[in-house]
Amino acid sequence: MPWRRRPFRGSDFARATNIADLREIARRKVPNFIFEYVEGGAEDEATLRHNRAALEALRFVPRTLVDTTARHQRIELFGRECAAPLIVAPTGGNGMVHPLGDLALARAAASAGIPFCLSTVSTVRLERVAAEAGGRLWMQLYVMDDRKVAEDIVTRAAAAGFEALVFTTDANVFGSREWDRRNYRRPGKPTARNVLDALRHPRWLYEVLLRRGVPQLENLAAFLPAGGASALGGSTIIPKLFGPSITWDDVRWLRRIWRGKLLVKGVLGVEDAERAAELGCDGIVLTNHGGRQLDYCVSAIDVLPQIAQAVGGRLTLLVDGGFRRGSDVIKALALGARGVMLGRATLYGLTAAGERGVRRALEILTSEIDRTLGQLGCRSVADVGPHLLHGSSARGA
Ligand SMILES: Cc1cc2nc3c(=O)[nH]c(=O)nc-3n(C[C@H](O)[C@H](O)[C@H](O)COP(=O)(O)O)c2cc1C
Repeated sequence: MPWRRRPFRGSDFARATNIADLREIARRKVPNFIFEYVEGGAEDEATLRHNRAALEALRFVPRTLVDTTARHQRIELFGRECAAPLIVAPTGGNGMVHPLGDLALARAAASAGIPFCLSTVSTVRLERVAAEAGGRLWMQLYVMDDRKVAEDIVTRAAAAGFEALVFTTDANVFGSREWDRRNYRRPGKPTARNVLDALRHPRWLYEVLLRRGVPQLENLAAFLPAGGASALGGSTIIPKLFGPSITWDDVRWLRRIWRGKLLVKGVLGVEDAERAAELGCDGIVLTNHGGRQLDYCVSAIDVLPQIAQAVGGRLTLLVDGGFRRGSDVIKALALGARGVMLGRATLYGLTAAGERGVRRALEILTSEIDRTLGQLGCRSVADVGPHLLHGSSARGA
């Protein structure tokens, strides 16, 4: 018998052995244009590909003969214990892949003992997530030209008890996700081919669009014109909401009006990281927005060593972009990150099987982190450092 390997073809999320398997289930579960919205990047998708390539290029040098029987992956994050070095990243339009997707993500994060960050452009209102999900909740903020919108979100998030505000700064000018845009005749109007594809996914059609009506950008409803809050439209709808006028003055302003933890999401340069520290931020997220904004951009992992060296003692450093394996997470910790934000990895779980799918994604990643720690000879993330990465101390990490 010739030796043959067959890629995962199942539909049972519980049998997914890794994030790629969950992605495969997710891909088949929803119409192509919905998957494209989650999956795609901007322009040539060079940033998107580089996020994976940069992580894959790093190689471990393990320590051997260390007793790792009693290992764990807990970390301290903003003065509180976190069960794993993971945070669910803010993603908009989650209701398009699964009904009440934000709630499902938040609940799965809570049961895994990690924070969940809700997007400004979520499809469940922030107050409802706070009331029904539990766990540690962070609020992502897009500041639009009309600053009243941001003020409203900040006030409501404070009243609802959100722990942290994550100001996203890399979508001031919206990225051109060309593959996504091609799926629409006009903003919010899928092409005939995509309408047919939706009809070929009756379960998705019923659960996502018909049962409760088309998901809406609930947090912004009061500020959008009637009919303008629909989440159907992928990247063709959201760009209209952003303006290029945001500056460091907005960080100063937010620092004055927000008492909780403040993070800037969108920093990739040492000078910007220093500035965030000087303005009293608590942390930064090194990110290129999952390859959906600036194309031909560096990845967080490329610049993490220099930024950790400059501000690691003053700011909590989080990273994201392309994290699909527990070993990826350990690489980021080795280079100075406190934790990793998960975008698509948990969205694949959500798309595949709702809350249970997200739990499965987190279970997969935490078991991979645990295994990697053990194989590297580490008892906890405190033992992880640049010495475990080939050539990284030579790069100045
Ligand atoms: C479908 C989708 C929607 C997103 N929406 C937002 C958002 O509303 N706000 C934000 O700050 N980042 C958003 N992001 C970026 C993520 O927070 C995160 O930076 C990125 O997904 C990380 O890369 P990864 O998907 O490869 O893990 C989105 C990403 C995806 C994939």
